[in-house]
Amino acid sequence: MSDSILIRGGTVVTAEGEFRHDVLVNGETIAQVGPDLEAPAGARVIDAGGSYVIPGGIDPHTHMELPFMGTVASEDFFTGTSAAAAGGTTMCIDFVIPSPQESLIDAFHKWRGWSEKAACDYSFHVAVTWWADSVREDMIKLSKEHGVNSFKPFMAYKNAIMCDDETLVNSFKTAKELGALCTIHAENGELVYVLQQDIFNKGITGPEGHPLSRPPEVEGEAANRAIRIAEVLGVPVYLVHTSCIDALEAVTRARLEGQRVFAEVLAQHLVIDDSVYRNPDWNAAAHYVMSPPFRSKEHQEALWRGLQSGMLQTTATDHCCFCTPQKQAGLEDFRLIPNGTGGVEDRMSILWHHGVRTGKLTPAEFVAVTSSNTAKIFNIFPKKGALVAGADADIVVWDPNKTRTISVKTHHQNIDFNIYEGMEVTGNAAITISRGLVVWENDELKTVRGRGQYVNRPCSAPYWDSQGKRNTLAEPTKVERELPTPK
Ligand code: URP
Ligand code: ZN
Ligand code: ZN
Repeated sequence: MSDSILIRGGTVVTAEGEFRHDVLVNGETIAQVGPDLEAPAGARVIDAGGSYVIPGGIDPHTHMELPFMGTVASEDFFTGTSAAAAGGTTMCIDFVIPSPQESLIDAFHKWRGWSEKAACDYSFHVAVTWWADSVREDMIKLSKEHGVNSFKPFMAYKNAIMCDDETLVNSFKTAKELGALCTIHAENGELVYVLQQDIFNKGITGPEGHPLSRPPEVEGEAANRAIRIAEVLGVPVYLVHTSCIDALEAVTRARLEGQRVFAEVLAQHLVIDDSVYRNPDWNAAAHYVMSPPFRSKEHQEALWRGLQSGMLQTTATDHCCFCTPQKQAGLEDFRLIPNGTGGVEDRMSILWHHGVRTGKLTPAEFVAVTSSNTAKIFNIFPKKGALVAGADADIVVWDPNKTRTISVKTHHQNIDFNIYEGMEVTGNAAITISRGLVVWENDELKTVRGRGQYVNRPCSAPYWDSQGKRNTLAEPTKVERELPTPK
């Protein structure tokens, strides 16, 4: 048996459009894409008739086994990337989050150790949680030697990982010199902190206090601040988990002014509203405690419009699983409920069912917002997010008629509830191929612990600032940009 796979008879969908093409995989990469391809001797032939053939999904925002709020996220790199594969996602960009005063390089190596068990490919953004000359040196080293082209300042989580404006400005300046991108958690952490005390002191101690302490204005202010700082410094920025009209307006205004601002939306913010916090069952409401919180329906509708109009370019999950007993750390005090929700397995189906089947997105737009745009923004296109000769063979045979009811009873995520419980979705991954290996078919996972590879993401050098001066730090790095070469 050769290690070739011919995917025959499907409709290939890329961000560019739909084509009646076959896809030939040889080893870990795509050998050919075109009409009526011949199967090499011994090749496995997959009949994709009636299905779409799409690039594997890329989730630009996950937190596998994250130590956070006194506990550790229950999903590890093996279970998490496996669950992702079951849903048609073949790459995650996770976050290294150093504690304040911890070296970024040490934290990066710690996370690299944990991620050795990943089943599918992955990469890392690195958070900037404090500032010193050594942090700047670590950012330079991470970008030049370790393939990190994105850094994340958190504007929230006071007394933990929140950074002040000084750190924000310094990290933006350094990212600019490197040709890297800053990804921002935009919420005004000082304001959240004050509102949390006020709400708790009024006697509101349950999960319903969580969204009250993080209203849309809190996100809008921080989004505006980050964008304006970036404008002054002439540096691109990327807002993670944009959840409300206030932040979307800031993004839209900046983009219409020609500023290079990118923004991500989470699948769950598109389809779940804030009524979940009014559930009288404490556990049921606490399951939805994440930041930014779920919003009212008008925000959801605006987010869909943002995605349709291209103001929001990527979709993610912020997959950060805490099981019910972990959530119960905040039984007496909503401020202690670990923030985070899961969903890495369900993003693609949610986007297809609620996006493509309703006519909000075309199949090509679906591919753009679930993989290609992320690959382009984070400089790994077309190795990832594309179906071209030489690209990694991360491919999904997507059955637009396959229906499943999302449930904790059947999901593959390591968490004891599912935020989409009972939701029926049509449009699911029939077969998932990760770097040439079939890892999901016939509703069965075949992932291999440790087969996932770390993906280097070089900075976008050469990089020119807004005055047209070349940045000296953005000279060639040890990490080369990988351009697909057909074998
Ligand atoms: O509630 C969330 N989102 N938890 C994970 C950490 C973050 O803010 O991204
Ligand atoms: Zn965040
Ligand atoms: Zn996150």
